[in-house]
Amino acid sequence: PTGLLGDTLARPLHDLRISVTDRCNFRCVYCMPKEVFDKDYAYLPQTSLLSFEEITRIARLFVAHGVEKLRLTGGEPLLRKNLERLVGMLAELRTPGGKPLDLTLTTNGSLLAKKAQSLKDAGLNRVTVSLDSLDDAIFKRMNDVDFAVADVLNGLDAAHKAGLGPIKVNMVVKGGMNDQEIVPMARHFKGSPYILRFIEYMDVGASNGWNMREVVPSAEVVRRVSADMPLLPIDANYTGETAARWRYADGGGEIGVISSVTQAFCHDCSRARLSTEGKLYTCLFATRGSDLRALLRDGRSDAEISTAIAHIWRARTDRYSETRTINTEGLVLGARKVEMSYIGG
Ligand code: GTP
Ligand code: 5AD
Ligand code: SF4
Ligand code: SF4
Repeated sequence: PTGLLGDTLARPLHDLRISVTDRCNFRCVYCMPKEVFDKDYAYLPQTSLLSFEEITRIARLFVAHGVEKLRLTGGEPLLRKNLERLVGMLAELRTPGGKPLDLTLTTNGSLLAKKAQSLKDAGLNRVTVSLDSLDDAIFKRMNDVDFAVADVLNGLDAAHKAGLGPIKVNMVVKGGMNDQEIVPMARHFKGSPYILRFIEYMDVGASNGWNMREVVPSAEVVRRVSADMPLLPIDANYTGETAARWRYADGGGEIGVISSVTQAFCHDCSRARLSTEGKLYTCLFATRGSDLRALLRDGRSDAEISTAIAHIWRARTDRYSETRTINTEGLVLGARKVEMSYIGG
């Protein structure tokens, strides 16, 4: 059951993002606000989680359908016990043409100093690290658990030393909260081994109280950075890349801007998402997923599961960001959108 899949808008399936835990040791205000994710929050029980064997089996079927990139996310993926073992299992997968996959991970960096080398040894290719500010007071206000900037920078350093590159740094820009950090962050990472990307604050999930007034459009980000350090647009690395790329005119490297709100990129979105409990989502803003775990635990064959995946992708119509209407209740057609910590960034 191979051959390239296209959805209803002829978009191929290229990228599988796998959430390995719905838990996180941060409480970023735009993702897991404390008021909602408190001590009574019902996280998934251990028995609901896909095992590493189950994840690897599903990933193998996606790879047979054309997926070339696997990204481990969460929650905070490094909180999942023995994650290196899963990395090792996924690193053995090959495309139908026999090539290794692009195997990467998105992390908040808190455990990276400790884990970078073991992840590299297990076969991870690269990491993307979130960092919203270089100012401790602002950063702590955003992660809401008093985590210090220096510890994330140490994690970045360890990842670089371990050879987990090219390393990207993701900064969510929330207007009135950290937008004064746009230029300092750009200056700090200019000429470094790290590629900084600014992400527009998104209306993902149903908890963060999103408001259009707090979105700083990427055009404004580029204008501010460029005023100090002139930028020139450059081509995407691949079709469907989330970030638009800009390089410094003086050769100081590049930045990216991810503009899900002001310049949606659904037209060539090739990303599927597997939740911690094995539901397949074809959009970050989905309200429901398809239960692949039920098929696995029902004893279905690879061929049956593979066919189910193909059906789901061929029927895919999602283009939420291109059709977004401003809503602050986190609802789509009256149903609650899933949380980013559950579906994976
Ligand atoms: P590269 O492989 O390095 O190009 O990474 P990537 O951009 O695919 O992945 P990353 O996890 O770094 O994505 C950066 C951020 O972009 C995510 O944390 C999300 O905030 C946002 N993002 C990623 N994919 C999508 C998507 O399909 N839709 C929307 N609206 N936002 C997305
Ligand atoms: N808007 C934009 N980006 C977000 N992320 C989490 N929540 C949001 C949001 N509401 C980003 C994080 C991290 C990745 C996992 O997703 O900053 O880079
Ligand atoms: Fe945790 Fe990442 Fe969400 Fe922050 S954005 S709460 S680090 S999962
Ligand atoms: Fe893809 Fe949905 Fe994001 Fe559009 S909103 S780019 S369809 S995940």
